[in-house]
Amino acid sequence: MKVLYDAQEIARAVWRLAFTIAADHRRKPLVLLGVLKGALPAVVDLARDLSAIPDGPSKIEVEYICLASYGRSTQSSGEVRLLLDTRLPMAGKYVVAIDDIADGGLTMQRVRALIQERGPARLRTCAVFERTDRRGSDFSLDYVGLPVPGTFVVGYGLDYREKYRNLPYLAELPPELLSQEG
Ligand code: IMP
Ligand code: MG
Repeated sequence: MKVLYDAQEIARAVWRLAFTIAADHRRKPLVLLGVLKGALPAVVDLARDLSAIPDGPSKIEVEYICLASYGRSTQSSGEVRLLLDTRLPMAGKYVVAIDDIADGGLTMQRVRALIQERGPARLRTCAVFERTDRRGSDFSLDYVGLPVPGTFVVGYGLDYREKYRNLPYLAELPPELLSQEG
């Protein structure tokens, strides 16, 4: 597999995101809201980075929401299903929703709509990776890490049919692996 970003490059990008998020949430109660399953490594890394930054948020809570937009293919189904909702109250909290990659933006728009109506003090959006060609989407996120070309990518939380999330790096999925079952 062709590696686009190795573990160290991703760690540096996540650190930069944490630094910016910390600066924007000094002495504020922060909720890191991970969009499962892809954001799992990002939330863990961001949460630990944030706690190492002095004078950051007054408190860090971690919460998850599970949405799925891709079925068993590499194309978005165009429909985002809510599979698991949050339990922590969002009212009055400073929430940063975190996804692995921002593509067309449907997932984050859905998260924003769901959380906004629960009255957070503020809601911001973050993705570790962002597709450079975002299919004409005019939805922009508040915090983005590394650009990714049009090819399908896996690793650091991103999957193809539930495989490869465990890879510590981000790689292009070669076409010959695309149709393979298992
Ligand atoms: P969006 O809703 O179109 O922005 O798509 C974002 C979601 O699609 C992410 O949460 C990912 O789970 C998934 N996704 C988009 N591109 C890729 C990719 O290249 N590999 C794996 N998953 C992807
Ligand atoms: Mg996914």
